[in-house]
Amino acid sequence: MNAQELVDLKQQAVAEAAAAACLTELDAVRVKHLGRKGLLPAIMERMKEVPPDQRPEMGRLANDLKQALGQALDDKKAALQAAAKAGERRGFDVTLSGAWRGLGSRHPISLVVEEVVQIFNRLGFTVADGPDIETEYHNFDALNTPADHPSRDTQDTFWLTSGQLLRTQTSPVQIRVMESRRPPVRIVTPGRCYRRDTVDATHSANFHQIEGLYVDRVVSLADLKGDLGFFAQEMMGPNVKVRFRPHFFPFTEPSVECDFSCHVCGGAGCRVCKQSGWIEIAGAGMVNPKVFKAVGYDPEDVTGYAFGMGIERIAMIKFGIEDIRLLYDNDVRFLQQFA
Ligand code: PHE
Repeated sequence: MNAQELVDLKQQAVAEAAAAACLTELDAVRVKHLGRKGLLPAIMERMKEVPPDQRPEMGRLANDLKQALGQALDDKKAALQAAAKAGERRGFDVTLSGAWRGLGSRHPISLVVEEVVQIFNRLGFTVADGPDIETEYHNFDALNTPADHPSRDTQDTFWLTSGQLLRTQTSPVQIRVMESRRPPVRIVTPGRCYRRDTVDATHSANFHQIEGLYVDRVVSLADLKGDLGFFAQEMMGPNVKVRFRPHFFPFTEPSVECDFSCHVCGGAGCRVCKQSGWIEIAGAGMVNPKVFKAVGYDPEDVTGYAFGMGIERIAMIKFGIEDIRLLYDNDVRFLQQFA
């Protein structure tokens, strides 16, 4: 070990400290030279080998190295900390181009609701709205659904402790609209409905319906058939066929169920339509006079039709979706297809 070695080492160590790009690198320089197993302690160890007459000089150089490196480390640390502060103060660079994350897309349920509403707009219908949390009266009683009717079974309805319920259908909006307006009435009302259904490929406990109500002096079943037929063609294209089957609803008389020919197989029979060639789209019928009485309309004076259809059903056949759960999973890979 000679004096030159110590002078060189000092230069090198100071240069390393100055070159450190961050506090971690700087600390590594400190450990390398001043740490317990670092270069400087090793040098001190070897002082014994230095001839006694040279020892003061070598001791001075070693001390010099330690001082100089200590100073270099302190200076660099202060500089690095100041630079970090300055960066923080600058915030972000508004001139940097951002990372493109792509546009969101409308949910297929929203797309279908919008299209159904537009079609009925053209027939003179406007949109009405009602609450998801309903009274028993609006969801059932006023719709001529007596307390012993199976659709009031606790199996089907989510009851709230307040005695209110989550509407099982959009039909209560019929009541609310007629309570607040004089005839004529021509409205559609889309919205969420809730039933205690077990979830599977075609059922959900939370689904969407769109209700239609047309009341005027002489509305007939022929109007209902004509309007739903028009709707089917606009929604599904000119090849769709529509059929009506007799049915029962407490709030319509007579009642029908309206099927569209299956959009997936064209009526030949497939998995989606369970081989029948038809898909049930809507419940409908002529407004029951008892419903008119409940809202203060005179059944001698007005007639009307009403329908309620499942939005998910329409979305599934229109877009060829085989499992209703895909509509609620919100997997972007699925949703992106509707962009
Ligand atoms: N509310 C009925 C249902 O949910 C559908 C319907 C609406 C039937 C209007 C007739 C008239 O099944």
